[in-house]
Amino acid sequence: MIIESSDEVPRLKWPRRFPVPRDFGVAQNSRIVEGKSWPKPKGAKRITTLRIYRYEPDNDGPPSIDTFIVDVDDCGPMLLDALIWIKYKVDSTLTFRRSCREGVCGSCAMTIDGTNWTACTRAMDELSEPATIYPLANLPVIKDLVSDQTHLFAQHALTEPWLKTETPAPEHERVQSVEQRQALDGYYECIMCFCCTSGCPSHWWNGDRFLGPAALLTAWRWLADSRDEGRGERLDALDDPFRLYRCHTILNCTRTCPRGLNPGKAIAEIKRMMLDRGG
Ligand code: SF4
Ligand code: SF4
Ligand code: FES
Repeated sequence: MIIESSDEVPRLKWPRRFPVPRDFGVAQNSRIVEGKSWPKPKGAKRITTLRIYRYEPDNDGPPSIDTFIVDVDDCGPMLLDALIWIKYKVDSTLTFRRSCREGVCGSCAMTIDGTNWTACTRAMDELSEPATIYPLANLPVIKDLVSDQTHLFAQHALTEPWLKTETPAPEHERVQSVEQRQALDGYYECIMCFCCTSGCPSHWWNGDRFLGPAALLTAWRWLADSRDEGRGERLDALDDPFRLYRCHTILNCTRTCPRGLNPGKAIAEIKRMMLDRGG
């Protein structure tokens, strides 16, 4: 069955517990300990409590959870606003990525109350009290909420995300019909936040060889492009027991995409195209 829309996949209503215990089987000095509790800001009338993962690579100590109390009348409405408020008013060492603050750059993805999402599109009034904030799961942590995504970008680059052509360039642009252009809807909008890949159990287990939902959605975006002339070699590159076929249609990816995209469907479309060509 091919799911046509991410709305058809039941979304978990902000589960509060990460499905795999974070301390499961990790070395003693990697176990998360209770960190610092910061005082309530003076004069604050409306507050929210954030329990935030901290890791300082220059110390030998284990990661910790610090507790911050945010004056919600003194900052903007989104979680990213609260993190920026903490950085400027409470603890300048708190480290996280952000750029656009409008859900289009993908930088601020993190695990928020147990679900991967972008902090700039997550409203504070949707959070638990207290809310838990971790870096994206299953990635090495560089510092605090910043994870190392080098491997994920390398997997993305493996899909060769550019238009491949052999025929001579026309005098003007390579045109598409309205329908051909619409075939890319739901795929070209990916912001490479990697919420999906971080939440994919198959990628946890085989992330060295399985490309994961973000890269595969991009692969389909180019396979589906009527102007692209590299379909055969693109399919050859994916025709591998691990790169594509380690997707077991668990659909965590589709549930957690902050853009409402459907990587699970993109992967099913690639498998169908592979079958159609007899692969
Ligand atoms: S559908 Fe495939 S890619 Fe998506 S979470 Fe499941 S196994 Fe991972
Ligand atoms: S498919 Fe969605 S969750 Fe995955 S990288 Fe793209 S925007 Fe992020
Ligand atoms: S800051 Fe760009 S997506 Fe959040």
